[in-house]
Order: sequence, then C-alpha cells, then structure tokens
Amino acid sequence: MMSLPQSVKIVEVSPRDGLQNEQQIIAVKDKIQLINDLRAAGVKHIEVTGFVSPKWVPQLADASEVVKQLTDDESVSYSALTPNRKGFEAAIHAGIKEVAVFTAASETFNQKNINCGIDESFERFSPIFEQAKQHDIKVRGYVSCALGCPYEGDIDTEQVANVSEKLFAMGCYEISLGDTIGVGTPLKAQRMFSQVAKRIPTNSLAVHFHDTYGQALANILACIQEGARIIDASVAGIGGCPYAPGASGNVSTEDVVYMLHGMGINTGIDIDKLIVAGKNISQVLGRSGNSRAAKAYSSS
Ligand code: HMG
Ligand code: MG
Repeated sequence: MMSLPQSVKIVEVSPRDGLQNEQQIIAVKDKIQLINDLRAAGVKHIEVTGFVSPKWVPQLADASEVVKQLTDDESVSYSALTPNRKGFEAAIHAGIKEVAVFTAASETFNQKNINCGIDESFERFSPIFEQAKQHDIKVRGYVSCALGCPYEGDIDTEQVANVSEKLFAMGCYEISLGDTIGVGTPLKAQRMFSQVAKRIPTNSLAVHFHDTYGQALANILACIQEGARIIDASVAGIGGCPYAPGASGNVSTEDVVYMLHGMGINTGIDIDKLIVAGKNISQVLGRSGNSRAAKAYSSS
C-alpha cells in the first residue's frame, strides 16, 4: 500500500453543489451563515455559488449577492462556478478571486448540463482563461461523469484523461474528477485516477464523489492510495446536479473528516464545529443530514 499523506486539502462544495438542487429557495443570509459556519470549523476552500443561468438553476440566482456578503478572510479561498464569459465577468464584478469551469467526459451530459458539446465548452472557457490571467484569478476545472454518465452509461477513462489534460493545458491549476451520479466503485475509481495521473501531477488532481450507492468513502480511500490529496465534500452530504437524474448528495464532509482523522491524516478542520455547520444547514432545509458521523456524534 502506498504511504498515506500527513494531510489532505478539503474543498467544501455545499453552498454550491449542496444547495443548487434544492427546490425551496434558500435565503442569502442562510447561505452566508453556512459559509461562516464552515469557516469557523477551519474549512479553507469553499465553493460558495455558481454564476450560471438563473433559468437553468434558480437556486443560485442570488450568486452576486452571496459573494458581496462574504466575510473578508485572507485565510479562506472562496470560489464560484462560471460556465462562460458572462458568468466569469459577473463573478469578478462581485469580487470573486477564484472560479471553476466545468465540462464533462460525456457529450450527452454536457449538452443537458451546459447546452454544448465538449469541444464547444473549451471554446467558451477560452476567454475565461485569458481574462483570469489578466486579473490574477485562479481557475479550477471539473470533469463530470468521470465514472459514468446518466445518459451514456460507462465512460472510457481515456476520455476522462483527455478532457482533464486539455483543461490543465488551458490553465486550470486543479482538476476535479467528478463521479456525478455516484456509480463508481473503489477499483474503478483507482484505475480512473491513475489513468489521469499519468498526464497530470497528482497534487493538481481532486476527487469529487457523489454518494448515491454509498461508495464515496471507499472510493476516496482508494484514490488516496493512488496519490489523491485533494477531496471535494459537502457538509451534511447535501447536493446533486439538477441535470444528472439519479444523482444524490455529495459525500458528507463530516464523514470524510472522521475517516481521515481516524487514519491520522490532518485536514485542519474541527469536526465538532463542522457538525454544527451541518446541523444548522439541515435545519434550514428541514431535514436531517446524510452524515453518519454527525448522527453518531449526536447520539453519543
Ligand atoms: P444557454 O441557454 O446555452 O446560454 O445556457 P446562451 O449563451 O445561449 O444564453 C441564453 C440566455 O442565458 C441569455 O439570456 C443569456 O444572457 C443567459 P436571455 O437573452 O435569454 O435573457 N446567460 C446567463 N445568465 C446568467 N449567467 C450566465 C449566463 N450565460 C448565459 N453565466 C449555460 C448555457 C451554461 C449558461 C446554461 O446551460 C447553464 O447555466 N447551465 C448551468 C448548469 C449547472 O449549473 N449545472 C450544475 C452545475 S455542474 C455540476 O453540478 C457537476 C459538478 O458538481 C461536478 C460533478 O459532480 O460531476 C461541478
Ligand atoms: Mg457535483
């Protein structure tokens, strides 16, 4: 077994991936509370919203307002999804310093999610990379459907590697490999990760697991054994993509942190405070969260 790292970077995606799929409109103040709770727990990378079309994702129509109300904190990096030039310009106008572009290893998913094919998505990102350089903005990149597509089924890992490599060459500093519908299992996840890692340094690769079949923690561990050091997660396990039928929540940050700390891997996060963040947003959403660790802590 490969030696385990001393620490990993957690990228918290709940304010964006977690909330984008909610039917009820969540107030800006509740989104800000979630982000501040996460900061209080020591989370250093938070994807706070997406500058996407409000017709496509009404839940994030308040993106500018959310960014404007963020608490200044030099120690935290706030990022936002930007699908095209319009979204990017709105994001920097609101004050964001890091953005994320998103495409997929599946043509059909891309059409359904961003209304264009893979090659066209790169064309749309081009002006983002140009302007990002001028404004000193960091760009992250997502590759969805890395382990399967709700429309096309199995996805060739070579295609995942190709799309990832292209995003990296265009200027993404980090590529997040998304199991959008949570169909991956550990060996498949490991093979996919190692295939991509032949082209991109592992310290620039993140893993992003949805937990539809309860495989996310196992997949994360499998990828850590292959060298993964950056993990996306969502507090209380909230999340899902409106254009990925069957996708359930992301892996819960509480469960990831519990697993990692139990293995002696540092995250810089205070799990007790993280559980508070999860409880607070679950209360806003009117349901109990999906974190097993949080439930176990509450009953112990
Ligand atoms: P489109 O309709 O092809 O865009 O949408 P368009 O350029 O033809 O413009 C049509 C209208 O949208 C125009 O307005 C534009 O101004 C407006 P109108 O003239 O009709 O009034 N528009 C915008 N408005 C606000 N912000 C913008 C923007 N761009 C155009 N940025 C578009 C293309 C990409 C905008 C649309 O398909 C979209 O917003 N898609 C977003 C879908 C989304 O957010 N999905 C969830 C996130 S991805 C995910 O969850 C996966 C991930 O978690 C990883 C994983 O799990 O795998 C990241
Ligand atoms: Mg996702």
